Amino acid sequence: MNINEKIKEKIVLALDVEELEEAKNLVDSLYPYVGTFKVGLQLYTKYGNEVINYISGKNSNFFLDVKLHDIPNTVEKASENVVLRGANFFNVHATGGLKMMEAAVRGAKKASETLGKKAPVILAVTMLTSISQEVMDDEFEIKADVSEFAIRLAKLAKKAGMTGVVASSLEARRIKEACGADFKVLCPGIRPEWSAKDDQKRLATPKFAINEGADYLVIGRAVTKAESPLEAMKKIYDEIGEI
Ligand code: C5P
Repeated sequence: MNINEKIKEKIVLALDVEELEEAKNLVDSLYPYVGTFKVGLQLYTKYGNEVINYISGKNSNFFLDVKLHDIPNTVEKASENVVLRGANFFNVHATGGLKMMEAAVRGAKKASETLGKKAPVILAVTMLTSISQEVMDDEFEIKADVSEFAIRLAKLAKKAGMTGVVASSLEARRIKEACGADFKVLCPGIRPEWSAKDDQKRLATPKFAINEGADYLVIGRAVTKAESPLEAMKKIYDEIGEI
């Protein structure tokens, strides 16, 4: 099969698995189809360097989903280290504020200059999907509509020089309108037509997300838990078709 490079660039595979062997098997079978492998806290806290080295060995992009959130000085140093460690993508919480996001951009820039490679994609997490309007109202007592607040944070992320944000594909279009077409949107909650919903609520098909402006699609269990991850991935390419 000829790989559609435009689709490949958009595919971010979430390696949310328990064991290193499982992660390695997924990388081995899927790397020709995956632009970027995402390592989250589950795998990173167990097999940090081993899994990073394995992905880097395949010449694939590597997304360290660390969601940094600390004082600017700490985030600057940590961002530098994340990039020195080989990450092409990483993320921080937008609720850390403008200065913290600017610090992340500075740290990452310094590291990419040291390495002589292009600056990484730095994404801001606006509001976690686990934060509902009830949490805003009753726990945080923040008087704002949760999705308006997410847009406000996206604008702040843009001002800080971040590459883009993590957001539902149902919001991608509004974010692009508010922050501009070049501001990247990475969308989780992607399910092909044929796949189980798992615990995700605000879902979209890959095609829908791309039509709404998604630059990157996080794909996890629809592929990783499929009987044949490779076949599932090929079906996703077919479903997306030409872009
Ligand atoms: O496709 P699947 O539901 O398995 O993907 C889950 C991945 O997407 C996880 O790695 C999770 O961290 C990430 N994610 C999410 N919802 C968000 C942000 C990220 O599910 N709002």
